[in-house]
Amino acid sequence: MAKKDLSKGDTQWFVRDRFGMFIHWGIYSLPARHEWVMNYEEIPADVYKRKYFPNFNPDLYDPAEWAAAARRAGMKYFVITTKHHDGFCLWDTKLTDYKAPNTHCGKDLLRPMVEAFRAEGLKVGFYHSLLDWHHPHFPIDFMHPLRNHPRAKAMNRKRDIRKYTEYLHGQVTELLTEYGPVDIMWFDFSYSNRADPVHGFKGKGRKDWQSEKLIRLVRKLEPNILVNNRTEIEGDFRTPEQAQPREWVKANGKRVTWEACQTFSGAWGYSRDETTWKSPEQLIQMLINCVSRGGNLLMNVGPTARGTFDDRALDALDVYAKWMRLHGRAIYGCTQSGFAEPPEGRYTQNGKRLYLHLFHWPFGGVHLNGLAGRIAYAQLLNDASEIRWMEPADLEARGGQPAKANAEIVRRKKAVVLQLPIVKPNVVVPVIEIFLK
Ligand code: GLC
Repeated sequence: MAKKDLSKGDTQWFVRDRFGMFIHWGIYSLPARHEWVMNYEEIPADVYKRKYFPNFNPDLYDPAEWAAAARRAGMKYFVITTKHHDGFCLWDTKLTDYKAPNTHCGKDLLRPMVEAFRAEGLKVGFYHSLLDWHHPHFPIDFMHPLRNHPRAKAMNRKRDIRKYTEYLHGQVTELLTEYGPVDIMWFDFSYSNRADPVHGFKGKGRKDWQSEKLIRLVRKLEPNILVNNRTEIEGDFRTPEQAQPREWVKANGKRVTWEACQTFSGAWGYSRDETTWKSPEQLIQMLINCVSRGGNLLMNVGPTARGTFDDRALDALDVYAKWMRLHGRAIYGCTQSGFAEPPEGRYTQNGKRLYLHLFHWPFGGVHLNGLAGRIAYAQLLNDASEIRWMEPADLEARGGQPAKANAEIVRRKKAVVLQLPIVKPNVVVPVIEIFLK
């Protein structure tokens, strides 16, 4: 099959909506010290299972609350971990007993979540781990909790990756047939090209997951779905992780659809003791930065084992809610602008509306190169108060030494000078909405 046929989701809604919620939820929220705890602490599957599986009891779980919080924050889609690397499944899969219905809560946790988010108007995405540290046929490798086990290589002789891959494809089939229309399939991850100098294990990737077959299956079951790029097949969008691209993400020199994923703090799963929570400025600036480089932001929440968003997560979501209520139109439907941004901030643009997001509030004026003669009107977006500006001729007419020196630069750069109030408006990042001629 041609590479092209493997990559044909319709990204129109995705590049319009721009902002989604990632949710990492599983029994790793009990240890609450990273969703990779099983790997980091080299915990064998049976020990991990014995300790956490019977104690998982999300008694306060109310997906309607989660969905409402996401909608208020301005998020338009969500991506939930159906299964993470530890192998625990949130839904009522027929292919393993290691699933939510067999814990205390006794029910499928995925279905009510999908329904609640859909009811709030959000699109639905499934994260699904390609790795599985619980499955008996998943061969041990350098990413596996048992990598240092003295019998690891001997144990692998009884493990058959084909049996695991069959399970993987079977579970994906369940997910894409039993939960209504799914908009995104978010696989994680491949590492066939990583070397292992310590144990000499091979990584896993396209061949192991049978990625061509897998993607074809996904497209057959859900023709309009978007698939990410972590199966070692390009897919519909790229997924830079915990990094803010400096420019539009490219593949083979060409701009591609992309979505950065980020956490409020360090880990993806609920992590009690972390103190690296991002500031309101960082949260808002990350979203703006993504859109200003033509991308999306998928912002993660790690719910607690009781099924709640903790206060720190709710506060962070509230930062988005407050800002997005006033500035949503500088994000939705926007993309990178052709104008060169000033050092004080970022541009986003939607047709004839140009948005200047000011990360640094300047003293009095801001110079915008290339905009001379292009502006019809300008206003602060948070309160629609007029912003006046000076064209090169206005500056020259003013006379006086400093104005004259400035006028020369302004003329050379075809710049305008926006006249900003001295006091920064009381929003995390103020935005000037510029109506272009
Ligand atoms: C990684 C990690 C993981 C997280 C994910 C999100 O690959 O393995 O724990 O789920 O990225 O992008």
